[in-house]
Amino acid sequence: MKIIKILALSALLSAGVMADETLVNNMSQMESGLSNVQKGFLYNTPALIKSGVAEIKKADALFHDMEGTKKYLPKEKQHMSNIAFNAAKRIDTASNDLLKALDKKQYSKAHQSYSDIVNACTACHAVVRGW
Ligand code: HEC
Repeated sequence: MKIIKILALSALLSAGVMADETLVNNMSQMESGLSNVQKGFLYNTPALIKSGVAEIKKADALFHDMEGTKKYLPKEKQHMSNIAFNAAKRIDTASNDLLKALDKKQYSKAHQSYSDIVNACTACHAVVRGW
């Protein structure tokens, strides 16, 4: 009996640790993508903007549905998973808008989408961190 409990507990714990690790890896990819997008605008290098957006989109796919998003939030914030999920959707929409504007060489418009992305990152962090 005892051993079963210990096994169950360690399975639970390692699932939690794995979720943490996935989140940390994805957030570091989000950060890397975002700073490449910013560098791309600063140095006027569209290829860098594009590869940064690709990184962001890849990392943002972690939050592809409401339930999936919920499990990466702290327990006491999970009731606000709709706000977090919407922030992730905004990142995806703004990323697509950014790429479209870039293809048309509408750089100011593309930069506006970059700001939208940053604001959406902050919208989710505000929930998670109680800002
Ligand atoms: C759906 C919610 C959500 C979205 C959207 C989101 N994040 Fe996060 N982010 C989190 C959570 C949860 C944490 C971990 C808790 C914390 O750091 O407060 C986190 C933490 C981070 C960290 C700190 C990681 C660490 O190891 O301490 C960085 C950097 C980060 N996010 C970058 C970004 C960037 C850049 C974006 C937008 C492109 C973004 N995040 C969008 C939920 C989100």
